[in-house]
Order: sequence, then C-alpha cells, then structure tokens
Amino acid sequence: MVRTMLSALCVLALILGGLSGCTTPSPAEDEAPVEPAPVEEEAEEEEEHHHDEHGADEGVVGMMALAVVVDGEGQTIGEVRFTQTEEGVAVEGRIEGQEPGPKGFHVHETGLCEPPDFMSAGGHFNPEDHPHGGPDDDPDYRHAGDFGNLDFDDDGVAEFSFVDPVVTLGSGVNNIVGQALIVHFEEDDLTSQPVGEAGGRAGCGLIEEVESF
Ligand code: CU
Ligand code: ZN
Repeated sequence: MVRTMLSALCVLALILGGLSGCTTPSPAEDEAPVEPAPVEEEAEEEEEHHHDEHGADEGVVGMMALAVVVDGEGQTIGEVRFTQTEEGVAVEGRIEGQEPGPKGFHVHETGLCEPPDFMSAGGHFNPEDHPHGGPDDDPDYRHAGDFGNLDFDDDGVAEFSFVDPVVTLGSGVNNIVGQALIVHFEEDDLTSQPVGEAGGRAGCGLIEEVESF
C-alpha cells in the first residue's frame, strides 16, 4: 500500500514538475531508461522570457500616481502615493482607523471601488495568471498586486514605505494605474489560494496618475 502511494506520488511529481529524482522501487525496472529531459535549460529560458515581460524597465520612470482610500461608509481613511523608479514602484502612505495588526494589502483587478463591500474591485491584479503569494516571492509565484500586509499599530494607523519591483506605472503588462487598491480586515497569509484568506475589504482607492503630490 505504501509502495503504491509512493509510486503514485512519483508519477504525479514527474507529471507536474518533470522531477527526475524519484527512485521508488517499482516493477518497471526492465523498461528502457528514459533519456533525461533538459529540465534546467527550459527553466532558464522561461525565466528570461518572463523577465522580458515585466519589470521596472517597462514603467514610465518618474510617473506618479495617488490612491485616496475610503472605507465602506465613504470616509477617507488614508492616501497612498506611487512613484515609478528604476528599481520599481515606490509605495508610500498612511492609512488609519483599522484594528491593530497585519492586514492584507493588494492591487485588485478592476478600478471600481463601490462601497460598502468593494467587491466591485474584483480579484487580485494578476495579468500573468500566477498563483497568490507575497511581495518577497519570485515574480512568477505571486500576483502582481500582492503587496502582502500593512502593519497597523495600537492606534489603528499604518505608515509604510516600500518599493515593489513587479508592478509598474504608465506602461507594461503590470501597469497599476487605473486599478483599485484594497486594504483588508484580516491578515494575508501569503499562501492560501486565491487571496490569502485576508477577509473582507475595509478600504478601497482608485490608483490615478497625478502631476505632483
Ligand atoms: Cu485584496
Ligand atoms: Zn494575490
């Protein structure tokens, strides 16, 4: 029984990942050895391909954008500023009026912020059809919009400043101008599909190009 399960797992691993390290004892030892596939070369090519498709070099360096974030009652709870740099998009802001602790923070796939629940914003901004992840994950294993969490202090305020290397402003497949920025009621676990179990949507703001802050 155990051997059968191991074999099944190995077959699955071979199908999914092209892994060649499965050494499960099986009754198929008399089969001709399979020519090893050029797994590493393929992986490298794919990675280069993806790097061509996104990255800060596709944004318009110097472009600025602003999102005024409102809660479900339409009250302004903060502002977030975006600036395209050579390294990525600098994201700086302050949001208040939340429970203390980490709360999910993402760019979503529509530009619609309709209170009270902001479900109009749709799912996470994910033009390249990747799984949900966190900002520190490989760009191929996160949604473009996965900014992770904001940390709200005991006063319910989050002040933050970071650079995201995946999203862009003004051009490129991951251009976030015109998308909705969402802060959630719960923590994003950065793992669960499709949205990290971050709960409902506490605030929403349309990301709009501006000439100055
Ligand atoms: Cu979200
Ligand atoms: Zn996501």
